[in-house]
Amino acid sequence: MAKVVTIDGPAGAGKSTVARRLAGRLGWQFLDTGAMYRAVTLAALLRRIDLSSEAALDALASCVNVDVSGGRVILDGEDVTLEVRRSEITRQSAKIADSASVRGHLVRWQREFATRSDTVTEGRDQGTIVFPDAFRKFFLTADEVERARRRLGDLLAKGERTTLETVLADQLARDARDAARSIAPMKPAPDALHVDTSGKSVDEVVEELAGHILIP
Ligand code: C5P
Repeated sequence: MAKVVTIDGPAGAGKSTVARRLAGRLGWQFLDTGAMYRAVTLAALLRRIDLSSEAALDALASCVNVDVSGGRVILDGEDVTLEVRRSEITRQSAKIADSASVRGHLVRWQREFATRSDTVTEGRDQGTIVFPDAFRKFFLTADEVERARRRLGDLLAKGERTTLETVLADQLARDARDAARSIAPMKPAPDALHVDTSGKSVDEVVEELAGHILIP
């Protein structure tokens, strides 16, 4: 059976970068589940769907085609990799993630993807809900200002005009919403290993995680 390593944690803890690099190091496939929620959010905004209507979100989630398997984010055949990183999508994505219908559709797809071959997956509920029997589980954290600084750097590099205060406030609001929702809240699985990435380079974190996976 294909192995799964899960990496969960709050926004900006370095999950995507670490998970992608770790997957490369192990020769496994990588799954960015946040990108899936972002793609559905973009689809909802483009169609002007009421984000508080569960019926509308269910209809959307059952017809929309999201594919993150090739390292890009493809929405209904169109590459939206850059677009889904915009602040507006980031802000709205935690609302879409409250939807039971959206989660149901995406979780099915995530489990199907992980049957294909060994997978490193990252998100908020991967170790708790989606892959409770994962081979190894990690919960990544980092100092909140350091997390906001990292995200600010990404956004400025992409040409967005924003400030550390705005990014920090958005991050706190999103983490609070992700942790408080009734379905699949963000929390460490009881058997997850906690890793604080503050002050560590990506390489250091990848090596630390790989050490826990490669030890027999
Ligand atoms: O990780 P990223 O910032 O791309 O995730 C965007 C949003 O998608 C999160 O704030 C969260 O609300 C949602 N999400 C989720 N479950 C996951 C991954 C992401 O609810 N497994």
